[in-house]
Amino acid sequence: MLSRRTVPSLCLHRSRLAKARTLSSRASGILSSLDIPTSAEIPGVYDGQWKGTGDIMESVCPTTGEVLARVQSATPTELHVALEKSKEAYHYLRTIPAPRRGELLRQIREALAAKRDALGALVSLEMGKIKTEGIGEVQEFVDICDYAVGLSRMMNGRVVASERPGHTILEVPNPLGVVGVLTAFNFPVAVYGWNFSLSFAAGNATLWKPSPSTPLCSIAVTKIVASVLERNGLPGAVSALVTGGKDVGEAVVESRDVNLVSFTGSEAVGRVVGKAVQSRFGKSILELGGNNAAIVMPDADLSLAVPAVFFGAVGTAGQRCTSTRRLYLHRDIAPKFLDALQKLYATVRVGDPLTNGTLLGPLHTRAAVGIYSDAVQRLRETGAEILTGGLRYEEGTLRQGNFVQPTIAVPKSTDPKDTIWSTETFAPILNTAVFDDLAQAIEFNNDVPQGLSSSLWTRDLRNVGKWIGPEGSDTGIVNVNVGTSGAEIGAAFGGNKSTGWGRESGGDAWKQYVRWSACTINFSDAAPLAQGVEFSA
Ligand code: UN1
Repeated sequence: MLSRRTVPSLCLHRSRLAKARTLSSRASGILSSLDIPTSAEIPGVYDGQWKGTGDIMESVCPTTGEVLARVQSATPTELHVALEKSKEAYHYLRTIPAPRRGELLRQIREALAAKRDALGALVSLEMGKIKTEGIGEVQEFVDICDYAVGLSRMMNGRVVASERPGHTILEVPNPLGVVGVLTAFNFPVAVYGWNFSLSFAAGNATLWKPSPSTPLCSIAVTKIVASVLERNGLPGAVSALVTGGKDVGEAVVESRDVNLVSFTGSEAVGRVVGKAVQSRFGKSILELGGNNAAIVMPDADLSLAVPAVFFGAVGTAGQRCTSTRRLYLHRDIAPKFLDALQKLYATVRVGDPLTNGTLLGPLHTRAAVGIYSDAVQRLRETGAEILTGGLRYEEGTLRQGNFVQPTIAVPKSTDPKDTIWSTETFAPILNTAVFDDLAQAIEFNNDVPQGLSSSLWTRDLRNVGKWIGPEGSDTGIVNVNVGTSGAEIGAAFGGNKSTGWGRESGGDAWKQYVRWSACTINFSDAAPLAQGVEFSA
């Protein structure tokens, strides 16, 4: 049973918290602009009403260590009620014609766009990514709303030719039910947006269980969405929120009332989620680890490739699923490339992600700093050359936050099966190796468990053909002269192999948020059987 206590992993800075807390003006301005209280505990459950009497979760700023808020999470009963209300909300939403749902999404899009900068700042404050990336993340939600507005008039089924006279076959998409969305800390707004927009357009209610360390982003988004729902007389549980820890997540995953579970997170947790949903024959979308490679051919335009690898590896402090973690350089250009890349690394401006011009913010948690340090130590122990980085930033105010130096390493082994290459470390560490021909580079790229994103830099059409074809990259995102991260919303987003095979956002991803009905309709005066089967007495 959940008791009313502080979640242990999040109570690092609890001692600093007075009952009436005094927030820094840096934090209070952002929270106030999004109607989030700056004192007292904040309800973290929404099912049409705001509530929460479960564990208290603390939202801790990764830049300063300041406790931003104490959030009241869901008890098992509150989760149960939220699920019941979501089901009811679904029963209502499915009766609204899809284009009308699209019109509601258009209003949600407008409401989000009006708060884009404030919400982006909250992402920077609570998650730690720099301002332009925080705003960009909200823009992804706005963009996918636009997409889903259009989709609401295009979620088409098919008419299939029947072999029987006077018959026709329809493939009809119908709403699915309740979609449970479990999101990670690194995209605390956009990933919910991808799921919610498609789910809503398809006629489902969505129940959101965000990462325990980014509750404020989920509360702010839910308030914005709920304001539109309320204005239009829709039940709030169309977009329900249940903050909480592992037990809340498990309960959502195991509930038979959740028809589709969309989970974004680690491979280890994804394996458990996938099995649990499968064991009750539910549907799942898994968006798990990435361990993404960039490959640079000798004919590549280095003036484009070097900054792209810099963004891919250092952007978001290496905390995107799509971050560049492996760099394969053709022998002919390797020294030149690394020289130029190190020069860029030397210019990186580290500090408060909310300050204009900062390029490198903190890691999200103290624990992540430990994971970074362990990975660097393993590199050193196995004889890797550390070209740059490898340490925490300890100077001045940086010590209060989770700041680490972006690192480039040349591991001794080039074997992709070696732990150094085959494990995803969620930090700005870029491992690099040299190759001699494209076939070898593709082997390096493919020979790891994960398969999210990859990027080839070349001007030679023959390389492009090979890279995107059957002998090419086996990842879900296969780019050419574009970095591994920063995908647009229009294409399906997701990866293969241990990344989980899930697809979200654009492309055909919407087809997973519906139940398909194959309807054979006989409008003739006979009732023939298919395949010419005779069965008359
Ligand atoms: C993630 O890291 O979980 O392609 C999502 C990108 C972003 C989304 C990343 N549009 O980098």
